[in-house]
Amino acid sequence: MMTDSEVFKEGLAGVPAAKSRVSHVDGTDGILEYRGIRIEELAKSSSFIEVAYLLIWGKLPTQGELEEFEYEIRTHRRIKYHIRDMMKCFPETGHPMDALQTSAAALGLFYARRALDDPNYIRAAVVRLLAKIPTMVAAFHMIREGNDPIQPNDKLDYASNFLYMLTEKEPDPFAAKVFDVCLTLHAEHTMNASTFSARVTASTLTDPYAVIASAVGTLAGPLHGGANEEVLNMLEEIGSVENVRPYVEKCLANKQRIMGFGHRVYKVKDPRAIILQDLAEQLFAKMGHDEYYEIAVELEKVVEEYVGQKGIYPNVDFYSGLVYRKLDIPSDLFTPLFAIARVAGWLAHWKEQLSVNKIYRPTQIYIGDHNLSYVPMTERVVSVARNEDPNAII
Ligand code: SDX
Repeated sequence: MMTDSEVFKEGLAGVPAAKSRVSHVDGTDGILEYRGIRIEELAKSSSFIEVAYLLIWGKLPTQGELEEFEYEIRTHRRIKYHIRDMMKCFPETGHPMDALQTSAAALGLFYARRALDDPNYIRAAVVRLLAKIPTMVAAFHMIREGNDPIQPNDKLDYASNFLYMLTEKEPDPFAAKVFDVCLTLHAEHTMNASTFSARVTASTLTDPYAVIASAVGTLAGPLHGGANEEVLNMLEEIGSVENVRPYVEKCLANKQRIMGFGHRVYKVKDPRAIILQDLAEQLFAKMGHDEYYEIAVELEKVVEEYVGQKGIYPNVDFYSGLVYRKLDIPSDLFTPLFAIARVAGWLAHWKEQLSVNKIYRPTQIYIGDHNLSYVPMTERVVSVARNEDPNAII
């Protein structure tokens, strides 16, 4: 019989939470596969919509299946005016991830019927969420700037349409292709925190809109999807190549995590970071350089020098921000972009959870008190609970 300390793993590190066929990561050799296909292949030869189909339906689509799926998504991009009007009540200073989480949950108000055993319901929910999440991200961005949202342009493909909804200009085809590859790279990544949230929420048989809202909330944190926005802030704070080494030394001395580095699984450079770095260099060659890039390259070199031996290397969030910055996307939209892509992976795991469902209900190791008396109010004194800081101001 295993002891409590043998069973309990902080952050469930290394603890399998599901059996899955959706994707696979080899953290030692830096390998990522979606449904058995290497991410490098998909980044080079596929498109985000085709990758979403692969992840969600478990196979590469035929030409007809892809065209039908793409058409359904293209024709479901619009959102109800109620959701646009709701966004007008949000504070302009609110974070776009909070706006997205709220709006994703609100979708459930319009499609309240829960027919999880009906394949048509499942497909409709998949199409709606893939189609409407980008529209909601773009709509809040326009509204917070005091403008009317830009309606989706049905002539444009998925990536081009999103960039169009931010500017009302059709994007440069190369920029749109780079953005489409970024969506592919961010689409899925085994049992990360937000996917785990999605599966736990799905396991209660709630509606898919609540599942996605739960996952969006989890992704927003700076230790997860929120790191890509923090990386840009960090590069700005460092300010020059000369400041990189002192910055790293200060962070490490203070046990402060350096954003965009480290990973629970990868102990080498994230294969997605390798592809994103190449995309960034291609963009700079075509659209002009970014002075932050030299700082990032020096930061990668110095971090490896200090903690490479601990397996701390760039993760997916380290170079993605430089790509998005070159595409003129505001930095607080970087994590919503991550969410737009990851909806494909969350939906794949939602379907997989439903196919073998058992509600998640883990246990705990109780470390609290037992058999305490109920103290009458008159006998209570101001005290400090055992687990609070004794120096804390009451
Ligand atoms: C994503 O899980 C996924 O797949 C996520 C993701 C996906 O596609 O869904 O890949 C996307 O979330 C990427 C991660 C983005 N987050 C960041 O870049 C934030 C910075 N990174 C760290 O917070 C950290 O690396 C985590 C959260 C990513 C992983 O943390 P772990 O596995 O819990 O590791 P840990 O915090 O326990 O650290 C282990 C050791 C510690 O040193 P010791 O105390 O043992 O001496 O490594 C050190 C840490 O100090 N360390 C870092 C570091 N990350 C870990 N030291 C400095 N900078 C860092 N970034």
